[in-house]
Amino acid sequence: MNVLLIGSGGREHALSLALAKSPLLDRLFVAPGNPGTARVAQNVALDATDFDAVIAFCRVQNIAFVAIGPEQPLVDGLVDALEAAGIKAFGPSKAAARLEGSKGFTKDICAKYHIPTAAYGRFADRDSALAFVREKGAPIVVKADGLAAGKGVVVAMTIDEAERAVDALFAGAFGAAGAEAVIEEYLEGEEASFFALCDGEKALAFASAQDHKRAGDGDVGPNTGGMGAYSPAPVMTPEMSARVMKDIIAPTVAAMKAEGCPFKGVLFAGLMIGKDGPKLIEYNTRFGDPECQVMMARLEDDLLGLLLACADGRLPEAVRLSPKTALTVVLAARGYPGTPHKGGRIGGVEEAEKIPGVSVAHAGTKMENGQLVANGGRVLNVIALADSVADAQALAYRGVAAIDFPDGFYRRDIGWRAIKR
Ligand code: AMP
Ligand code: GLY
Repeated sequence: MNVLLIGSGGREHALSLALAKSPLLDRLFVAPGNPGTARVAQNVALDATDFDAVIAFCRVQNIAFVAIGPEQPLVDGLVDALEAAGIKAFGPSKAAARLEGSKGFTKDICAKYHIPTAAYGRFADRDSALAFVREKGAPIVVKADGLAAGKGVVVAMTIDEAERAVDALFAGAFGAAGAEAVIEEYLEGEEASFFALCDGEKALAFASAQDHKRAGDGDVGPNTGGMGAYSPAPVMTPEMSARVMKDIIAPTVAAMKAEGCPFKGVLFAGLMIGKDGPKLIEYNTRFGDPECQVMMARLEDDLLGLLLACADGRLPEAVRLSPKTALTVVLAARGYPGTPHKGGRIGGVEEAEKIPGVSVAHAGTKMENGQLVANGGRVLNVIALADSVADAQALAYRGVAAIDFPDGFYRRDIGWRAIKR
């Protein structure tokens, strides 16, 4: 069959490599894609916010299945539009994508269906939000309800900080995403990510991962989309994964069905593993970036078959993943996560890819007169697969050393927490 993948990041390069291996695939298109996806698929200049254009393209190219990488088209209802046009898609409907699109919606689902999460309040105005902050005290967490590109959360260690966060939110710092605030209890523990494939009825545990959100070594500096990740997460033992499936994922899938918006696609649970067990911090309704890159490096089953099974409501009982650890280091352009410096020349990608066990995913890159240059914040992901986190880390940094990107930077400690364990 012909398949269209929506997105342009390192996640989509990793997905396109896995899709390209499928015996079910005839032709793969990626919109808009990047120079990495161009090596395994045909990139197309399609605007995913223009649903009619996406549908028209699918008709012309005889696309039987559309896989959607990023959250915005899901929250905007691209899957609904495709299905209405008779085109199968991987990802949740607009109503089901509220699990990512509205933190208040997710908290209410958790409360109604007894899914463990931080205690919270929802507020539509500044005064009641401030009163709640003063009543509860610090530390406390202030969140914009809607999609804010990862910037809508303030973990406030003092009342003063929390009040400033509430003020900024209701002053419009996050636009429409901040029309409402969710204010919640501060959770302590170790964070981990857990991914489950869902077909509306059932969930299948996929993999765990941990990422490094901060820009600087030692987990300091501004938050980013993720500077590196590894899978599996050592904190997610088989027992812990089973508990997350039973206490968090399965009840969520049942809840969404009961609410009339069955969830199909991948559920990405951000978890806090604390003294009294795992609690849900938030849901995303897509693969993480860069978590996807390390999970795809471990996947031994046919990705296209699995994504189709989600859409068709016929998930298998298990998925085969390598027991090895995959680790990725993100190379970012100077300035990221602020304004990244674009146009920096990149060399050595082929040398890195020659190292056994190392692969490179493209994110914000482009070809300019035959030269690969930086074209975004996160530019490349160097991925390694090895027997332990320490070995995967050493191998990934050998790959990084082969790359020549004078205008870039990267963290030198990806995997430190897992190695310390
Ligand atoms: P989110 O966008 O909801 O994942 O939040 C971003 C980050 O804020 C998370 O990865 C956590 O590090 C932190 N965070 C969010 N909610 C809480 C909470 N209730 N307690 C402690 N940290 C939190
Ligand atoms: N790396 C975090 C995310 O994709 O949301």
